[in-house]
Amino acid sequence: MKLAIIGGSLFKHINSLSNASEEIIKTPFGLPSDNFTSGYIDGLDVVYFNRHGASHHIAPHQINYRANMFALKLLEVTHIIAITAVGGITEKMSPMKWVLPDQLIDYTHGRIHTFNDGNDEEVQHVDFSYPFDEMLSNKLASAIETQGGDYETKATYGVTQGPRLETIAEIKRMQHDGCDIVGMTAMPEAAFARELEMHYATLSLVVNWAAGKGGVDGSTADLISMVEIKQHISDGNRMTEKILNNVLTQLKQDVSVRL
Ligand code: HPA
Repeated sequence: MKLAIIGGSLFKHINSLSNASEEIIKTPFGLPSDNFTSGYIDGLDVVYFNRHGASHHIAPHQINYRANMFALKLLEVTHIIAITAVGGITEKMSPMKWVLPDQLIDYTHGRIHTFNDGNDEEVQHVDFSYPFDEMLSNKLASAIETQGGDYETKATYGVTQGPRLETIAEIKRMQHDGCDIVGMTAMPEAAFARELEMHYATLSLVVNWAAGKGGVDGSTADLISMVEIKQHISDGNRMTEKILNNVLTQLKQDVSVRL
């Protein structure tokens, strides 16, 4: 097993890698967003990578997801935990809740989203009924519980184009569609992971109420505060590494049981 951790707006650095080394990986699909940091945590092979680049300059719609995910495959990654900051749509998805989504709806457009593109090979369709890996999600849930965090499972992640946030009407429509949270990066990342046969789960932190959902009295919605988002991201960062370390301990136990 080799685990990749994809950081984003949330989780920009990993501290606990030992024997860490950085690599630039070139792919036939162009350059990935960032260098890949490989090392060990608790004896397990781990790669850290940031989808927005080292200085967080690549917007969600500009990320070369195809190169990023192909590079992880070249590094022989088998499992991926993708960290994302999201907005909360439904009632339980309040700021500072951790969410382990089990479904998604893709509202993005114009992003390269498949390897079945412009080549002469026969088109391969993949099953995507369950876009997120249940084993990893369960381990993340148990890790959050151990850390005393508040979390929700069984949630649908609506993926929007960004980088602007949504209108109130867009969020109403998404809620009507069945979305519980909204973010900008789970797609096409999850689809590439599936095409490349890597197990993929998302660890999301709600950092704001989605547009129109933040009204204290239930009638007038507050505007979304970027200051509040930054504060929640910074609060969430501290716990993210603890959650990941706990997941790695669980994964290590599984690996040693199997040996
Ligand atoms: N919408 C889309 N993406 C987000 C949000 C949001 O409200 N908050 C954090 N990422």
